[in-house]
Amino acid sequence: MTPRARRRAVWRPIRDPEYQFFDQLPPPSAMLDEVIAGLTEQPKRIAPKFFYDERGSRLFEAITRLPEYYLTRTEMGLFDACLPEVHDRIGEGGCLVEYGAGSSVKIRRLLEELLPAAYLPVDISRRHLEQSAQALHADYPNLSVYPMCADMTAPFELPEVVAGLDKLGFYPGSSIGNFEPGEARAFLRQVAATLGAGGHLLIGVDRKKDIDVLEAAYNDSAGVTAEFNLNILRHLNSALATEFDPAGFRHRAHYNEGSGCVQMFLESVKDQSSRVDGRIIEFTQGELVHTENSYKYGYEQFAELAAGGGFKVEASWSDADDFFTLFLLRAG
Ligand code: AVJ
Repeated sequence: MTPRARRRAVWRPIRDPEYQFFDQLPPPSAMLDEVIAGLTEQPKRIAPKFFYDERGSRLFEAITRLPEYYLTRTEMGLFDACLPEVHDRIGEGGCLVEYGAGSSVKIRRLLEELLPAAYLPVDISRRHLEQSAQALHADYPNLSVYPMCADMTAPFELPEVVAGLDKLGFYPGSSIGNFEPGEARAFLRQVAATLGAGGHLLIGVDRKKDIDVLEAAYNDSAGVTAEFNLNILRHLNSALATEFDPAGFRHRAHYNEGSGCVQMFLESVKDQSSRVDGRIIEFTQGELVHTENSYKYGYEQFAELAAGGGFKVEASWSDADDFFTLFLLRAG
């Protein structure tokens, strides 16, 4: 805890913090329908939200520690300058809504420096969400913790219990890059509606940069990103009883200069077919199944996107190389 956080903590009101789990996850049938729809399109695709079962969430945490994956450590390096200023701008005792219960290292810094009254992580992976939320509940006795299991790419309602609190959304890691720019705008509009007028969003954005740096970050030498990409098939096999053979595919990632995103694919190494519910899905040798886009933004390009999503840029923090930017946005 920083000296500043400790000093302010003395003045916190006496409250009765609680833990409550909210479940708004769509049923597995919706997941199956979505997977079948993607695999019967040409080219085939599987949405990146399906990376994140428990193993996928763990593999992603391992990615964030890779030497080539500069994103996480660059973003966290910005916290030193960013968090005291966010604290001064928005005050204490609000509700921190985290989009994706990602790295506990990041959220602990926010909890300790911003001192919200309530923390509401929204995540699609129930076990990962529950484990990390319970650990935080145990470690922060003055904090109410309200994990919400939901697909944040679809609209969801905040629970009544946080209705009276000022909202700060937190969407780190440049996960916004997973959306097509038009979808990102629609997502931001939905976030603005959820947080309400005057609500803030602290959002991490990966910037456009040298192609070799970008491609290395998604083709690490230890092969963790490859494992993460292939895990999407293992996840579907266990959640939906599909019969994909992960050994029959290999990891592909490259930067698409025209669209401004890193694209990940699973390449079928042979002609093969897999059972998906009642159907047989055929893959030809060399066929690419799209699993993720990771858009990279110029500074102005993102500010414009945010404006289209109903947010105004209130402040921003970038590293010396302009590799990554944290934006503090305010919903109008
Ligand atoms: C969690 C979406 C930010 O796009 O960099 C990491 C996921 N994919 N390596 C990203 C990811 C491959 C990551 N985001």
